[in-house]
Amino acid sequence: MTDIALAVIGGTGVYKLADLQDVDTREIDTAFGKPSGPVRIGMLLGQRVAFLARHGEGHSVPPHLINYRANLAALKQIGAKRVLALNTVGGINAGFGPRVLACPDQVIDYTWGRISTICEEPGSDVLHIDFGDPYTTMLRHKIIAAARVTGVSLVARGCYGATQGPRLETKAEIARMKRDGCDLVGMTGMPEAALARELGLDYACLAIVANWAAGCGTGEEITMAEVLSNVEAASNGLPELIAELARG
Ligand code: HPA
Repeated sequence: MTDIALAVIGGTGVYKLADLQDVDTREIDTAFGKPSGPVRIGMLLGQRVAFLARHGEGHSVPPHLINYRANLAALKQIGAKRVLALNTVGGINAGFGPRVLACPDQVIDYTWGRISTICEEPGSDVLHIDFGDPYTTMLRHKIIAAARVTGVSLVARGCYGATQGPRLETKAEIARMKRDGCDLVGMTGMPEAALARELGLDYACLAIVANWAAGCGTGEEITMAEVLSNVEAASNGLPELIAELARG
């Protein structure tokens, strides 16, 4: 079996990898239960990659109910060592407006009540992973390089604030997040990043800005139609970027 060069987790609006060829679909069970859907393994512009839709391919799993552990364990079980997390987000600060792609380097976790460790089972050793840099630095550098090589414009930094959802935030919540130093807001960045580290996977985020976060734009209501059309427009160069990342 050829190794999987890269696993990709798709977020809101990214339910499949365009251009994935010769797809082998795997229904996987893990020690943590079932992932959000099948893992699709195939060739993307010459590279063998795996894809999993975080919310399920029909977007049926809300952020707080995603089995993040099973999703990552499934990718590990098929032999993936590196995970590119695509996360659809709102933009908070200047430079992070709709249709921007960003590769954040920090996280603030505002989620609650989610299973956030693989060490919950009785008898398992407690892990205290180093999480000062929540994303794998080398993988971030490779994402940034792949974007440069493929001509995809990318903001090479940012602080991702992970909220509970599934509702969007209030203006006061976003104002607080801005004071805290968040550039981006999304509902799925955590505990995924921490679990990936516990599982020994290289992991980094490519955030797709779908809208201005509450109170940051023109004040108009944030609609799902706006979110999906911005994600689609911003995702144009993704197959090339992902294949280049898988290559390196
Ligand atoms: N807030 C949280 N998550 C999101 C947003 C947002 O504004 N847009 C897309 N995902």
